[in-house]
Amino acid sequence: MDKNQELKERREASKLGGGEARIERQHSQGKLTARERVTTLLDEGSFNEIGQFVEHRSTSFGLEKNKIPGDGVVTGYGRVHGRLIYVFSQDFTVLGGSLSETHAAKICRVMDLAMKNGAPIIGLNDSGGARIQEGVVSLAGYADIFYRNTRASGVIPQLSVIMGPCAGGAVYSPALTDFTIMVEDTSYMFVTGPNVVKTVTHEVVTSEELGGAKTHAEKSGVNHFTAGNDIEALKQVRDLVTFMPQNANELAPSPSLFEFKASKLENIKSILPDNNQLPYDIRKVIECTIDDNSFREVHADFAKNIVVGFARIEGRSIGVVANQPASMAGVLDIDSSRKAARFVRFCDAFNIPLLVFEDVPGFLPGTDQEWRGIITNGAKLLYAFAEATVPRITVITRKAYGGAFDVMNSKSIGSDLNFAWPTAEIAVMGAKGAAEIIFKKEIKGAEDQEAMWKQKEAEYAEMFANPYRAAERGIVDDVILPEETRAKVIDGFKMLENKAETLPKKKHGNIPL
Ligand code: HXC
Repeated sequence: MDKNQELKERREASKLGGGEARIERQHSQGKLTARERVTTLLDEGSFNEIGQFVEHRSTSFGLEKNKIPGDGVVTGYGRVHGRLIYVFSQDFTVLGGSLSETHAAKICRVMDLAMKNGAPIIGLNDSGGARIQEGVVSLAGYADIFYRNTRASGVIPQLSVIMGPCAGGAVYSPALTDFTIMVEDTSYMFVTGPNVVKTVTHEVVTSEELGGAKTHAEKSGVNHFTAGNDIEALKQVRDLVTFMPQNANELAPSPSLFEFKASKLENIKSILPDNNQLPYDIRKVIECTIDDNSFREVHADFAKNIVVGFARIEGRSIGVVANQPASMAGVLDIDSSRKAARFVRFCDAFNIPLLVFEDVPGFLPGTDQEWRGIITNGAKLLYAFAEATVPRITVITRKAYGGAFDVMNSKSIGSDLNFAWPTAEIAVMGAKGAAEIIFKKEIKGAEDQEAMWKQKEAEYAEMFANPYRAAERGIVDDVILPEETRAKVIDGFKMLENKAETLPKKKHGNIPL
């Protein structure tokens, strides 16, 4: 046979993966094939495949008769919006996308290249887990990947898209990466599936309930972004990486074109309700400060009492962390502290400045929180902010009470600029609670106790339910009008553009995990 013809035929055979019937099955489940996913993710015509002819070496259980070039994973590199990206895409049509020794080696190869060349790696996961016929070499293959995920953490962005089953140890690679995107209805993640769960705990649960996109978006927080289908998920990845630099030594791209509706400067004035006990949606404040349509909320369905996400301000990528008074009054609890801490650390690792909006009544009290470790978990957020060396700005819109004031990027833990709106209340606690404690004896002896309570509460509120005590002490740098927020933030980040701060020399810190 003509040698060039042979190459062409080999290529075609590899492209067919597990064959027409299995491709058909993949499509009938609403899923794209591994290759279709790669081409959807990358700029047109930019994919270069590596290892197309790699085959497994197993001879157990008749596998020597079942060799498919590529061995169940498509690997290589290409471009997203012109920027270099490494990718692996598991092919469920080949032995269920299961991970063999060689399949793992192919993934490791692109991870190594991504590290050496400083570019993100995107994993498209669709796999039945360790290739059962191969035994321990497959398990070792997973460990090779986990090792690289960990070494790459904080060096290059790593994104995992879950586009099918993801069971067993397979879930730990995505968990080690920076962000997970799950496809609704066709993907799930769990350490052990419903059958094992039933045997061990006698619980009866469906795959979807146990580890579907919704479950992990709302209950566990394992899933950062949910997509309706494969195409949507891949579009989300293309969009998300524009907010990130290629690696920890670079800055995220900064498009010079941006839009900002002037009407938002008017709208921001009336977001806060007159009554300081009423909720409002902090996302409106965020929207009125950042470039139009630039907010990409992360973990939108998990720990809704804090809002985190990427945004742009005059085109520049920033990370936003904001207490959400519309959910549990914006209180800090275990999940919201964990959620925000992880996001802060991503932004800090990848030179993305942080903008914090603060309206927090404190930490959530009670046995449930205490027994599950609000102390350690709250400390995660404190640690993450205190450790961050990127430019950091805080805007206190309303409440900044107690320990939560300290935690939410206060000046004392290294924030660069702190602003407060005239509606800010910066105190150890709310006026009612404070009056009940410090004036208890005085009031007990009074004739009209009710009137006395009110008076003392008003006195405390008069003293602290404003931003001026903090401003007098320089604990906030300026008191600003809501409509001045965008300009102050823009100028602040420009002023901080060349900020250079390094941590004390150490092997690594010991974040309270
Ligand atoms: C080898 C596998 C496989 C695996 C699936 N296949 N999983 N082959 N090793 N792990 C094969 C099937 O034999 C089948 O081959 C094809 O892939 C499609 O699988 P189906 O079962 O027909 O598909 P479906 O009904 O959609 O079910 C998908 C599935 C199921 C839920 C993923 O296949 C399944 O439960 N697989 C096993 C999952 C698992 O327990 N993996 C090990 C986890 S332990 P044919 O030839 O019929 O098309 C693990 C340890 C890692 O991963 C530890 C690291 C620390």
